[in-house]
Amino acid sequence: MLRDTLFLFSFIVFCISSNGGLCVEGDHEVSPHYLLCEYRTNPLGIEELHPRLSWWLPKGVKRQTAYRLLVTSDVNLLNEENAEVWDSGKVESDQSIHVEYAGMPLHSGERYYWKVKVWDGNGRESNYSPVAYWQMGLLAPEDWKARWIGYPRDLPENQVRVVDEQTGKTQTIFTPPSPSPMLRHVFTLRDKPIRATIYTTALGLYELHLNGQKVGNRILAPEWTDYHQRIQYQTYDVTHQLHSGNNAIGAILGEGWYAGLVGLVGTRQYGSQLGFLLQMEIEFADGSKKTIISDEFWKGTIAGPIRGSDLIRGETYDARMEMPGWDTTNFNDQTWIPVVRLPAVEATLTAQANEPIRITQELKPVAISEPKPGTFVYDIGQNMVGWCRFQIRGSTGQTIELRHGEALNSNGTVYWENLRGNKPNDPVKEYQKNTYICSGSEGEFYEPHFTYQGFRYVEVSGLPYRPRLEDLQAYVFHSDAPIGGTFACSNADLNQLMENILWTLRGNLHSTPTDCPQRDERLGWMGDAQLFSQAVCFLMNMAPFYTKWCQDIRDAQADDGRFSDFSPNPVKDKESFLGAPAWADAGVIIPWRIYENYGDRRILERHFEAATRWIEYLQDQNPERIWQHSRGNDYGDWLNGDWLILENWPKEGANTPKEIFATAFWAYSTELVAKMAKVLGREHDQRRYSDLAKEIKAAFNYHYVQPDGRIEGDTQTIYALALHFDLLPEGLRDAAVRHLLRKIGEYNRSVSTGIQGTNRMMLELTNNGYTDVAYDLLLNRSVPSWLYMIDQGATTIWERWDGWVEGRGFQNPGMNSFNHYALGAVGEWMVRTILGIQPVKPAYRHFVIQPRPGGKLTYAKGRVETLYGPIEVAWDIQEERLTLCCTVPPGTTATVYVPVTEDETLEVIQGEIRNEVKKENGFYVCDVQADTYHFCTAYHY
Ligand code: BGC
Repeated sequence: MLRDTLFLFSFIVFCISSNGGLCVEGDHEVSPHYLLCEYRTNPLGIEELHPRLSWWLPKGVKRQTAYRLLVTSDVNLLNEENAEVWDSGKVESDQSIHVEYAGMPLHSGERYYWKVKVWDGNGRESNYSPVAYWQMGLLAPEDWKARWIGYPRDLPENQVRVVDEQTGKTQTIFTPPSPSPMLRHVFTLRDKPIRATIYTTALGLYELHLNGQKVGNRILAPEWTDYHQRIQYQTYDVTHQLHSGNNAIGAILGEGWYAGLVGLVGTRQYGSQLGFLLQMEIEFADGSKKTIISDEFWKGTIAGPIRGSDLIRGETYDARMEMPGWDTTNFNDQTWIPVVRLPAVEATLTAQANEPIRITQELKPVAISEPKPGTFVYDIGQNMVGWCRFQIRGSTGQTIELRHGEALNSNGTVYWENLRGNKPNDPVKEYQKNTYICSGSEGEFYEPHFTYQGFRYVEVSGLPYRPRLEDLQAYVFHSDAPIGGTFACSNADLNQLMENILWTLRGNLHSTPTDCPQRDERLGWMGDAQLFSQAVCFLMNMAPFYTKWCQDIRDAQADDGRFSDFSPNPVKDKESFLGAPAWADAGVIIPWRIYENYGDRRILERHFEAATRWIEYLQDQNPERIWQHSRGNDYGDWLNGDWLILENWPKEGANTPKEIFATAFWAYSTELVAKMAKVLGREHDQRRYSDLAKEIKAAFNYHYVQPDGRIEGDTQTIYALALHFDLLPEGLRDAAVRHLLRKIGEYNRSVSTGIQGTNRMMLELTNNGYTDVAYDLLLNRSVPSWLYMIDQGATTIWERWDGWVEGRGFQNPGMNSFNHYALGAVGEWMVRTILGIQPVKPAYRHFVIQPRPGGKLTYAKGRVETLYGPIEVAWDIQEERLTLCCTVPPGTTATVYVPVTEDETLEVIQGEIRNEVKKENGFYVCDVQADTYHFCTAYHY
């Protein structure tokens, strides 16, 4: 009751505060605001020669009719008289996102300031926006004066290959992590600079220091790309960290993805010599400039405290070897030796275009236990990804171990059987373990550098005392894509489910969208990423992250056109992990998703050719227009119901035949390529690929579909895919829906779908009028179901429905992650159905709000943040009345469907409806402009 009252209160507050007409405060309400360049606020390191600029319109403006943009390189000249770089003049246009810069040529390293004003539908002119800026990266290879340097040492060239005496087979032995090189350099400045910018990167990972401080807040830079082809550099403004006189700069290097263990494929995937590259451009008040670069005048050591560091396996840190002041000028580096210049690196240097990995939250443990004498287990209360900072009171040389795991065994010890998989060839026997050797000094603490862990529990051993709860803090980090989506409803379990989806997302965004963050894979598995992509776009602005990843996808594409199963793919040249149905298809689905959610035509331009090469490859291999040949590793509907180990659960009947599954995806991808061609105005391609899609669909029906709509395989997934990908003739759709319902019945109203079928089935149930069945599946509490996980205390989404089952315990430890977003794709259904937000025109220029109450929910509220601003929805059912409050952001339009169960008129309490309100299949329907609306009508369950 209290909660309902609170909701009603917050609901009213939401309605009032969202009313643009009532609330006009501050500069940003009357002028354009939230200025973005290439999706980011004041980005450094832009390489686009025509960067795209976007802004939110002033509140209360329904639509923009014109804009004027000013750009200068001197912020003091940013006015209509002096804007020397670009004055767009008054442009009659309603475009407020992705406006391409069209002024003077942009220069390497230069910073540009900009602002914009707009005119509304009544010709009223706004104030200018606050000033924003962007800074260009180093645009041409010649702009790089820096040299690649490294610490001179012989590391095992590659993974060691040994012949097993008994079997005669060659085995690859992984290389254990080796000590981290530390590099430093001292330079002199005659003045304090007015601007200083560092461009830097590494072969491996780096942590950059300047005058005793870490530079920036990035973790695991330069992040992961296919280093053979492309290496990201990062740009830092260090103006305030420099002074006149001597300055010291330094870097610590780690193995990371470059030389450390990469998931399934082993160590040393890209090289064994870690490298470093840095260029600092400094400007003084008198106009003079100076450049500091990495070169052979730097010095290095491997005698520092990081004795080995690996992303997956963990870090060993010997605090006795710390070198206080190593990154300052007051340091005696006599024992350090000159670095070596490394051979020129062929790969392209590219500015990182997405948000960095950085700490976004600190969690404090909720409990501590001692399951074995002297072994303490911290419970963070949340399965999370990052690392821990641990405060230690130890004596010199004492060794403390921190082991990280996601679950507990029944005796209270930490479960880590699922971390390592089967890796007899790795001399490192325990993964996710950080080892700390104490210096014995006062106030000692440890925080790792080049590793990350997926965990809820941390086992600490080696302490001669019982640690305090406050000795440990857990830091959550991930690629920091802005989280704009929210969801809440009257069912606490569903709120927990959405929380778990979000936590799983945070846990699996580390430069690539990973399948899992804890065990021995952590790869950018494409199949998982594509099926989850809409759920994540509802919650986060994924455009920069996916734009970066689409480049990884193209880099991983084989010469013959096959997209990879995961991207980056270090082993694509070995012909491994290429071309699996639904996995490789992410090479088409992801760029299309970006276009739909962010209106990004440029991504389609850049990706189109790659997408067509994939479809052409399939066509060459499969003249019958069914995907019979070349299906790579062919995972099919991975983890479908037949994988479950449960009493009284059918052993078979849920697995979709792989050829049929594959053909469905081929048709879908081909149709998406035809849609891309249409957007790009490529008529010939559009015809060609839509014809091909029709042929594949015809072949699908001819080979696999019976006249009664039964599809070979007869699984929940195949009906879901056939409906979702629109493969069936109109006349068979209803029949397919009936078969789908029959299959759900056969499984006792449970899901038996795998990761590719589950959310698509939920969406098709709703699209075809069976939202009630979808709610039943969502609210089911017995395994397999989402709420079964919640009932077991899950705080993230599990990889398997039966990851842990009462009475049976854990599933196969070889593949049993508790932080896997695939089954969380249902977050898409929840936003589309419960909140009812559905994109229609790219970037939500037009969208639908059509909440479908069900599952006895009495309220739901939430938002999706679009490039035009937030879409907000809140509905509430009380005493047989439904109230719907929604906000349509400036510059967009919406069609609102208000659910109604009685023959009663629609009451419009707030907002102006211009068109006639229609009644259609249990909804009042009206078209609305940007504003806040408040409707009321009769509704009961
Ligand atoms: C991953 C999956 C992935 C699959 C390929 C697994 O080990 O965790 O999520 O898609 O391999 O089928």
